[in-house]
Amino acid sequence: MAELKWWQKVVFYQIYPRSFADGNGDGIGDLYGILNRLDYLKDMGIDALWLSPHYPSPLFDCGYDVADYTGVAPEYGTLELFEKFLHEAHARGMRVILDLVLNHTSHEHAWFRESRSSRDNPKRDWYIWREGQAGGPPNNWCSPFGGSAWEYDPATAQYYYHFFLKEQPDLNWRNPEVQEAVFNEVRFWLDMGVDGFRLDAIDTVFEDAELPDQHADYTPEELYRLTDSSMWDEKDPRIGEQWRKMYMYQLRQPGIHRLFQDLRTVIDEYSDRVLVGETSEVSYYGDGSNELHLVFNFPLMRTDRLTPDWIRANQRERLAVLPPAAWPCNTLGNHDTQRVYSHYGDGARDDEIARLSLALMLTLRGTSFLYNGEEIGMSDYLFADLERFKDIPVFWTYYKLRKDILGEAEEQAQQSAAQHGRDKCRTPLQWDNAPHGGFCPADVEPWLPVNPNYAEGINVAEQDVDPGSLLNFYRRMLRMRQETPALVAGSYVPLHEEAEDYLAFLRETEEQTCLVVLNYSDRAHTLSFDLGEGRAAQLVFSSRERPAVDGDLTALDIAPFEVYIAEVALAS
Ligand code: GLC
Repeated sequence: MAELKWWQKVVFYQIYPRSFADGNGDGIGDLYGILNRLDYLKDMGIDALWLSPHYPSPLFDCGYDVADYTGVAPEYGTLELFEKFLHEAHARGMRVILDLVLNHTSHEHAWFRESRSSRDNPKRDWYIWREGQAGGPPNNWCSPFGGSAWEYDPATAQYYYHFFLKEQPDLNWRNPEVQEAVFNEVRFWLDMGVDGFRLDAIDTVFEDAELPDQHADYTPEELYRLTDSSMWDEKDPRIGEQWRKMYMYQLRQPGIHRLFQDLRTVIDEYSDRVLVGETSEVSYYGDGSNELHLVFNFPLMRTDRLTPDWIRANQRERLAVLPPAAWPCNTLGNHDTQRVYSHYGDGARDDEIARLSLALMLTLRGTSFLYNGEEIGMSDYLFADLERFKDIPVFWTYYKLRKDILGEAEEQAQQSAAQHGRDKCRTPLQWDNAPHGGFCPADVEPWLPVNPNYAEGINVAEQDVDPGSLLNFYRRMLRMRQETPALVAGSYVPLHEEAEDYLAFLRETEEQTCLVVLNYSDRAHTLSFDLGEGRAAQLVFSSRERPAVDGDLTALDIAPFEVYIAEVALAS
């Protein structure tokens, strides 16, 4: 087997800079804080970091509205500090990828300021400007962040297009000057030594050039009435279908392949860099060598219960549609969704389920991405204090729709907005049992409130010294994975495919075979595996105490919620 690339072997850890660690005591996470915590990450067994946007931004979308692609937000530090962080991460053998927002800039970006200044400005065509029609916008396209996707700009009496917020105007990728300008900014970071990019919202980069009206059966607002669910909620198939209709001219347009190929050419001028797409679209792998290196297996996440059936079906379908040379990429959580602990937990056995979730990420075939705070079991914090909300796109949209359109009572509207907004999974990391979870000084207000459960053991310091903690489970498992080649490189072979309670599979390379059993139920099982003539199992990892040798596995006792991994080899 060809030698794997670094990005096929590592486990990525997503840092949400504003909430990870506050190093200068102003209540906002920053690069000082990240630097202080690099050893924590390294010791945990993390070997690659993805930084959510660290660029200057007016924060209409928490940093995904970038005002300067080659800068560092002043509240996070300076460019020099960024270089120090990069150097220190590399010195510890950790790779670093950045978030690259291609679809749009902030409305405060110098390019957009110029573009909107006059119809004949040289940068006018860097964004998508159109005449209105019949006193309204150029067509009936919507934004998933609410309302029309067009904003009228009185200064020049035209509309500009924005898939997301009106403060996030879409760049015009059909203009070669845009590509050249953005690629220069990409080179800036590559020259500095950054190891690659997570490409934000890439399904939205191109839209149909003819701007045809869409013909969805409902408006986004009507969908709320219909399903009591949000446009954001892809778990509801009714929403999914309407979503596809509504945005059919705005998402996944063909021009994107060419853009990826051009970007890949740039990336490949540098050694060993990676492009990870925020999409589940497998055609973006290209032929496996000419577009993106990694594309997320988001379908795995679109359930409230990770059952063995669900996971097996996901693997069956996903591995079947990947182009032959493509490498899978799995994740269960990020800054846009529920926290893993809350999402998949059942309210009774959350801690055990969180361990299974990690085990799944570390044993499925592919690169996996973890989200900061998962390692201590941080859960969604549904604070319902309007003053403190920061997620304008989702929280505010949802709140207004619930209140103004559905006519819900204030309190109820706030609560459902808290549930659907994204602040809940972005609250500051809980470092210890001090006020604000030790994120910032006691007398400083953190940018988002800290989940009070920091005082109930959900913090790093207490879990650090508790051998049975979730944090120490993460550490043990991450290190075990680094030392178990079959879990990194092996093929995936499902076993016992009818089993309802547990998932069993082999990971196999020429040198090593591992058996993985993940019991998703509260029932114990005695399982029988046919290991082949003369072969025996040797324990590699378990979530409980058990003997090191299990022999031929004709009667393997698996405890409720157990994570069990054994190496299968000829008996000595
Ligand atoms: C991506 C980001 C999300 C952001 C959106 C618009 O989906 O992950 O946080 O709101 O893009 O930039």
